[in-house]
Amino acid sequence: MKKISVGISGIGSYVPDKILTNYDLSQMVETSNEWIVERTGIETRRIADKDQAASDLATRAAIKALESANATPDEIDLIIVATATPDHLFPSTACVVQANLNAKKAAAFDMSVGCTGFVYAVATGANFISSGIYKKVLVIGSEVLSKIVNWEDRNTCVLFGDGAGAVVLEQCKDGYGILSYELGSDGKDRDCLIVPAGGSKLPASEDTVKNKLHAIQMEGRDVFKFAVRIMEKASISATEKAGLKVEELDFLVPHQANIRIIDAALKKLNLSRDKACINLNKYGNMSSASIPVALDEAVRDGRIQKGDNLVMVAFGAGLTWGSLVIRWNKEGIDD
Ligand code: ACO
Repeated sequence: MKKISVGISGIGSYVPDKILTNYDLSQMVETSNEWIVERTGIETRRIADKDQAASDLATRAAIKALESANATPDEIDLIIVATATPDHLFPSTACVVQANLNAKKAAAFDMSVGCTGFVYAVATGANFISSGIYKKVLVIGSEVLSKIVNWEDRNTCVLFGDGAGAVVLEQCKDGYGILSYELGSDGKDRDCLIVPAGGSKLPASEDTVKNKLHAIQMEGRDVFKFAVRIMEKASISATEKAGLKVEELDFLVPHQANIRIIDAALKKLNLSRDKACINLNKYGNMSSASIPVALDEAVRDGRIQKGDNLVMVAFGAGLTWGSLVIRWNKEGIDD
C-alpha cells in the first residue's frame, strides 16, 4: 500500500502580551541582565494572565492555524495537545480545546513529553494520516510555565516563558512534508528535570506546598550536557533517515532553551546562525511551544519557503528527545 505523504497545511501561534524583562527579574531574585543574557541569551519572556490556562493559549494558536490551513473546526479529526502545564490532571487540555473550538467530530488527547512534546505530537498525528485513518489533525504545543516556576529560584525562574503554537497536518504532495523522524527517551535521568509533587507519587499536601514541590526543579548542568549531545545526534540521525546530507538542510528549528546549546549544535552540524530559527531572546524557553512559535514566525516573515528542508529538534523532561525532518510544503502565509 502506498504511504500517504503528510505535511503542515496551516500554522499559528499566540504569546501573552505581558513582558517580563531581565531587569524585572533582577528586582525579584539575585541576578542581572548581564548574567542572564551571557549564560542563556534570554532578554524577555511573556507571562500569561492569572486567569489564562494552557487551553486558552492553545485555542488562540489553533484558531490562527486553522485560518492559515483554510480549515474549519468541524473538519478536524483529532486534536493533540503537547503540554507540561495542562489545565488539570484530567480532563485533558485537548478536550477543553475541542470544546472551545466546537470541533464536533474530533478525538482529543494530551501528550506529556516535556519540551519534546511538539515533535512527538507531530510524529504521532502524522501517523494517523499516513495510515489513512484521519484526514486532518490539529497539533498544539501550549505552556504556561510561569504558573509552575519557583519565582524565588534564580536557577530556573529566569529561563521560562508562556506561549502556544499550533499546526494542521494533512496529506501533501509526494516528496514534500514529513520525511523522517527520530524519538527517544532515557527515564533513568528523569529526576534532572521534574515537578516532584501533584501527581500520584506525591499528592498535594501542606508539606508539598510549603516545600515548593509543585514547581520545576532542574539540574541545569546535567541537562545542558545532555542537550548538547542529543541535539547533534538526533538532528543527524533524522537527516540521514530522510536521505539528506546535513549540507542540504536549509533551517534548524531547535528547542529554545539556551543560546549556548543552540550554538553548540550549529557548530557540530557546521551550520551558521542564520540557518537557525531563534526567538529565545524574546520568549525564553516555552517548552513544547518553542518550536511551533519559532516555525510560525519564520514562515510568516518569509524566511522559510516552499521546498526548504527543515530539521526540528528538541530535548526535555523524561529525559526525552525528538527530531523531525520536513520539506516545507506550503506557500507563504499573508497576515
Ligand atoms: N543569576 C545569577 N547567577 C546565577 C543564576 C542567575 N539567574 N543562576 C545560577 N547562577 C549562578 C549559580 O548559582 C552558580 O553560582 P556558583 O558558581 O556560586 O555556584 C553560577 O551561576 C554558575 O551556575 P551554573 O549552573 O554552572 O551556570 P550555567 O552556565 O550552567 O548556566 C543554566 C545555568 C542557564 C541553567 C544552564 O545550565 C542551562 O541552560 N541548562 C539547561 C537548561 C535547559 O535546557 N532546560 C531545559 C528545560 S526543558 C523542559 O522540559 C522544561
